[in-house]
Parts: sequence; C-alpha cells; structure tokens
Amino acid sequence: MAQLEDELGDILEKARDGKSWSQQDLAQATGISTQEIRRIESYELIPDEAVLLKIAAALDLHGPSLVAIARNSWAPKETTPDPAAFDLVCLNVFMGSYPVKCYLLICRETRDTAIVDTGANPQAIIQKARELNVQPGKILLTHSHPDHAGGLGVLDREFNCPAWIDKKDPRPSGSRDLRFVEDGEEIALGNLIIKAMATPGHTPGGVSYLIGESVISGDALFAGSMGRANASWPGLFQSITTRLLTLPDHYRLHPGHGPATTVGEEKQHNPFFVGKVPQ
Ligand SMILES: [Fe+2]
Repeated sequence: MAQLEDELGDILEKARDGKSWSQQDLAQATGISTQEIRRIESYELIPDEAVLLKIAAALDLHGPSLVAIARNSWAPKETTPDPAAFDLVCLNVFMGSYPVKCYLLICRETRDTAIVDTGANPQAIIQKARELNVQPGKILLTHSHPDHAGGLGVLDREFNCPAWIDKKDPRPSGSRDLRFVEDGEEIALGNLIIKAMATPGHTPGGVSYLIGESVISGDALFAGSMGRANASWPGLFQSITTRLLTLPDHYRLHPGHGPATTVGEEKQHNPFFVGKVPQ
C-alpha cells in the first residue's frame, strides 16, 4: 500500500491548527492527557479506537477515516491514466532527504512539454527530459516554496523558457522570464489546454493546474490529509472543498507530496473532508 505523506500525528496537528488549539486545549476538550496527545503527535503512540474517535469528534474530523489512517489500513487506489492525449511523468526530486513530486507534462501529439514544479535540485528532471527526448518550453509553479521552486534557476538556464506563478505568492528567484498566472487562465501546451485554478491557503498564491481529468495540486491537499495552512487555514479548507473536491469523483489529484489520489477517494476517506464538500 502506498505510504501516505501525513501520519496520524500530522493530521492532529493540522486539525488543531484549524481551531487555533494548543495541545492543552485538545486535552481539555477530550479528557485525554496533554502528555498522551504530545506522544501521539510525535508518532510515539497510536491510541485505541475509542480515544481516536474522541479526538476526531473534538477536532471535527471523520472518525472512521482517522482510525483507518492511524491503522495504516487505507491508502488511495492507484490512479488510472487520464484518457486525454498527454503523458504525465511524476518524478521524486529531493530537497535533502525530503522528496517532492515534480511533473513533466507532455502533449502526446506535438511533444510540447511543461515542467510543473522544479524541486530544489532538478537534475532528475533534466535527465528525464533528455531520456524522453523532450525540450520543456514552459515551467508552471504551484507555489514558491523552495522544495517546489528552488530549482528554477537551473531549469531556466537549461531550457531557457518562461515560468508562471500566481502573483500573490512570493516571487521565486532564478527565472529570466517570470510571468503571472490568473485564476481561470488557460495555458496552451501543444494541442492541450492547461487551466489554472487558484487554490490558496498553503501559500497566498497557491495554484493547481487542471489538464484533462487530472489536477496537479501542489501542497493544497495530500491523500488523506491537507497541506499546512501557512497562509490561511479557512482559505485552504475552502480551496479544497469548493474547488478541488467539487470536481467529478473520478478526477485524479496529483499532490506535491505523497501518492496520487482521486476526488472520490478523498471525499470518502479523508478525515478532514468526509461530509464537508458542498453537494
Ligand atoms: Fe509547500
């Protein structure tokens, strides 16, 4: 089974963040000791089901989904290839030992190629582009964090092509032709159309890119969890529930960390979002 990006401890910490609760606040709301909560959040303790359900209720999480993740009994099913005429090549690019998922998006008919997110040390992207004999002509950034955009300078020199980011995000360095992408904007790639969707909250200008029935969603959502809400927790929650999870159930979601998933999987199994998506 695919290894999820977030474990039980990460999920609790993010859910507490949504309520601006300290570990003491959670202890008070549940009657569980602060010491036990600290051990759960530092991955030392997986409590029994009754405790997990109590925590889930206090944090507005879906209890059975939280239990399934705590017990490693759920991961999203492997996604099927998108029927549209593109190849999406996922690469694990490391920042130190921390992997980030970057993508080569290739129009199958024309071989026009875009890089989505650069990683910090993008040699793997350059090597893969050579192997596939493609010449990337666009760099699309989901946000400007260094693990996603730190390799921009190297890729700019290698491929000499423009890069796009939302102007509400801090500007990453390294591009000689940085352009701003707007919500709803359509970017052509060969015979394909890539549509930008603003999904802020992890950062002020987080963007997801929709192509065919697939979305490259950066750090907005992870399979079974959500990104860290560095800019706005309610903003991120709203981005996910009103923009990503309102897409059809079979649409594929390709996050910046952890396995790919689908809208339907997350609506049924993500403890943050079960029952929270407007119909
Ligand atoms: Fe990030």
